[in-house]
Amino acid sequence: SERITVPGFASLKGSGQKITMVTAYDYPFAQLVDAAGVEAVLVGDSMSMVVQGHDNTLPVTLDEMIYHAEMVGRAVNHALVIVDMPFPSYHLGKHKAIENAGRILKETRCQAVKLEGGADQADTIHALVSAGIPVMAHCGLRPQSVHQLGGYRVQRDAAALLHDSRAATEAGAFSLVLECIPTEIARQITEKISIPTIGIGAGPGCDGQVLVLHDVLGLTSGRVPKFVKEYADLRTTITDAVRNYRDDVRGGEFPAKEHGFE
Ligand code: KIV
Ligand code: NA
Repeated sequence: SERITVPGFASLKGSGQKITMVTAYDYPFAQLVDAAGVEAVLVGDSMSMVVQGHDNTLPVTLDEMIYHAEMVGRAVNHALVIVDMPFPSYHLGKHKAIENAGRILKETRCQAVKLEGGADQADTIHALVSAGIPVMAHCGLRPQSVHQLGGYRVQRDAAALLHDSRAATEAGAFSLVLECIPTEIARQITEKISIPTIGIGAGPGCDGQVLVLHDVLGLTSGRVPKFVKEYADLRTTITDAVRNYRDDVRGGEFPAKEHGFE
């Protein structure tokens, strides 16, 4: 099927078809999620936690995001591929934001960037969009601000959330992630703005949903957030497979005759 473009993605709002987005950080997983038929693949800075093992999203660098976005860009032929701008790559002025987002589009085969912010990032969103760089905004819980927020908490200020969502829309964002906000607030924002809302912990009233792939697959160690649904238990599958391999090696059952050369 045809490649999903930024305007094609945006036009799904109001089409009656819900949008599915999931993260991927490397070639094999990106191939699999693209084959499953999602509309968008996000190279999220959640990579800092689920791939690199840090306890928040602050450490991952722009070079590391680009390195992984290249792998995902090579794998995906159908879905729209969006790359998170890491902290603080869009907080250093408009010129630097364009330079950094420009590197993502030049050096990977990805089509858009995402950044955390609403009204406070309107000027930056506008500058990027003016440079021809499609921007997905991200409001509600903003994990890059974890120290300021004092933890990962549900964001409940309805007026501020609507103000941020409108500001991102007016600045030219083509879509908006809403993270960890009450279901009813997300439903109202979705009704009031013209761009698709993609929820995570924001209830069913959004135009689409996003989850971290490692959470979907049951690969995440420790506790997963309340808003996650695990669709597989790959930790068990993988550990069992490797344990069976180890047992076969120890027991002399692997390699067998058919695995060798005469
Ligand atoms: O980094 C990420 O994976 C994200 C999604 C959870 C929206 O920003
Ligand atoms: Na992110």
